[in-house]
Amino acid sequence: MKIVHTIQELRAQLRGQLRTAFVPTMGNLHEGHLSLMRIAANHGDPVVASIFVNRLQFGPNEDFDKYPRTLEDDIAKLEKEGVYVLFAPDEREMYPVPQEYRISPPHDLGDILEGEFRPGFFTGVTTVVMKLFQCVQPQVSIFGKKDYQQLMIIRRMCAQFSIPTEIIPAETVREDDGLALSSRNRYLSADERREAVWLSKTLQQTADRVRQGVAQCQMTVHDVADLEAAAMQVLNHRGWKTDYIAIRRRTDLKTVEADDLSSPDRLVVLGASKLGATRLIDNLEI
Ligand code: PAF
Repeated sequence: MKIVHTIQELRAQLRGQLRTAFVPTMGNLHEGHLSLMRIAANHGDPVVASIFVNRLQFGPNEDFDKYPRTLEDDIAKLEKEGVYVLFAPDEREMYPVPQEYRISPPHDLGDILEGEFRPGFFTGVTTVVMKLFQCVQPQVSIFGKKDYQQLMIIRRMCAQFSIPTEIIPAETVREDDGLALSSRNRYLSADERREAVWLSKTLQQTADRVRQGVAQCQMTVHDVADLEAAAMQVLNHRGWKTDYIAIRRRTDLKTVEADDLSSPDRLVVLGASKLGATRLIDNLEI
């Protein structure tokens, strides 16, 4: 694997490539990231990964300095996956001058759910992803469904800016008990790790209830709101601090209307909740 730290070296490595498949990451790689590398290898060649902890997407009270940086381990994992180039720029390379130009997702997609609780987060994400796309110029890019809203925002950004990269969504990788893999899981104590399964469990129960209600043609928009509230209550009674549990339309993450309840496969349930000091997110397509 070639490890490059500058945009110039990266472009030299990739010159003439016609089917570059790209996986952007912030490092601290786990099996979920590695599954993205394998999907990339099935859709293109060469596979390029990036590792860059992007300050722009961290809020003032978030864990930018504490974010785990494990470059040596990450390199070993990427080598095993047969990644061709790792682009690992530092901040001076990515942001040699203050990044004054930003990409702002539309309010109705960027300021809801994660965007409501992490103001500025998606502007930070789309700005760095736009820049990474300019650096790598990939024909295919892989994003995990674990970050469902991020995936949707990046897809729309590519469509609206005519960015010539195909976005491939990747299924969430889970532990045996259902917990979605995340770099943040490493912050959980042993007790919290046991408890953490309740986020996916609660989303699963909510999804099952929606499916049942829709199958029996008994589901109303009010029931949707009740199910969301009940799911939040389950978690909060167990000691979580829940930001949201939301049943939304898969196509645009808008709130559910009566027409959407004719078929459950138009819906997704998303959740974000804090267990101790660790904020976890997850979602399930219904
Ligand atoms: O999903 C992530 O790890 C980050 O948001 C991304 C896409 C690498 C941008 O920094």
